[in-house]
Formats: sequence, C-alpha cells, structure tokens
Amino acid sequence: MRVWRTMTLLIWGLLPGCMSVLIGPEALGGFLGKSLSVMCKYEYWYQTYKKYWCKGSSWNKCSVVVQTTGSEEEVKAGRMSIKDNHTNLEFTVRMESLTQQDAGIYWCGIKKRGYDPGFRIHITVLPDPEETTAISSQTDLDPSLNTTDNVHLIYVLFTLKTLILLGLGIAMIWMHRRQSEEIFSCHVARKCWTAIP
Ligand SMILES: *[C@@H]1O[C@H](CO)[C@@H](O)[C@H](O)[C@H]1NC(C)=O
Repeated sequence: MRVWRTMTLLIWGLLPGCMSVLIGPEALGGFLGKSLSVMCKYEYWYQTYKKYWCKGSSWNKCSVVVQTTGSEEEVKAGRMSIKDNHTNLEFTVRMESLTQQDAGIYWCGIKKRGYDPGFRIHITVLPDPEETTAISSQTDLDPSLNTTDNVHLIYVLFTLKTLILLGLGIAMIWMHRRQSEEIFSCHVARKCWTAIP
C-alpha cells in the first residue's frame, strides 16, 4: 500500500510540471506597424493567478512586459496589453504598432509560488504586406492556425492526465479491497495464527 501511495503522490506532483499546464502558439508573425494578438490557454486551477508576458530568450531571465492583476481586467503598458478570460481559461496579449524591435522570444507565464509555468513563443515581425508584393512564409505564420493546433493539444494532455490518475485510483481501490478480503477470510477461517510457526 505504501508503494501505491508514494507513486500516486509522485505522479500528482510531477504531472502538472512535466505535461504542460500552459500552452500557446510556438511561433507567430505580425506585420510592421500593425497589431498582433497572442492567446495562451491554461488549466483551470490557475484561473485567479496573475498571468504575464515576458521577453527574453531565457525563461529564468526574461523581463516582464505586462502582467494581469489576477482578475479579468485588462492591463496596459504602452503598446502592450494583457487580458485574462477566466471562463475560457485563456489570456490574450495584444501588441500594437509592431516595430522590428518587438521581434524575438517571448513567454506566456503564470505567477505562482515556486516555479512559474511558462510557454515559449517566437514572435516574428514581417514587412507591411501593402508595401511588399510577395511574402512566401505568410501562410506558415498564420496566427489562427498555430493557436488552434496547440489549444487542442492542451485538451489532449489534460484528458491523458485525468485518465492516468483515474487508473491509479482504481488500482489502489482494487489493491485495498483484495487486502481487506484476505484479512476478512483469515478471521472467518480462524487460520490466521496457525500459519505463523
Ligand atoms: C470570455 O470569452 C467569451 C467567449 O469569447 C466571451 O463571451 C466573454 O465575454 C469573455 N469574458 C471576458 C471577461 O472577456
């Protein structure tokens, strides 16, 4: 029984960390001078946590651009804004009047005690389409495509996690019941003590 308890605790502790609790598009492109919206999805227990948008190639050293208060209220910081939606379990970052300097690595993050969950997003700034005739990579960077793909992934991971935990729970109940049955039958048969030399 102790083995099972330890295993369950281990899985409870590890799963939210190794399977993503926060997900968004891996890469997104916006046009110079135009605006860009990035959406990140999170698991339900993070609803009232503070969400933020962080810039920098390293998760440990990125600098926070804009952060929510933990409510659904929109927070603005210059051309950047962030808004949480507790019902949809997602928050949206909006970057306005994109400049070339806005390109780079960003992170969707959730403030919590201990290690913050983060999701890495590569933002590309493309030349204005009205000034350029052909942009070959435009379809690859279509925001809607990337976002929906990953949003589906979070549901898959979430379901998988629930199933694993459910399976463990059933296994524990089964083990426990088998053990109780053995004890019960030994009491009924009154053979408990004869087996001990
Ligand atoms: C959250 O999103 C849903 C669907 O897009 C919308 O109906 C609702 O008003 C949003 N809530 C907030 C607080 O923005």
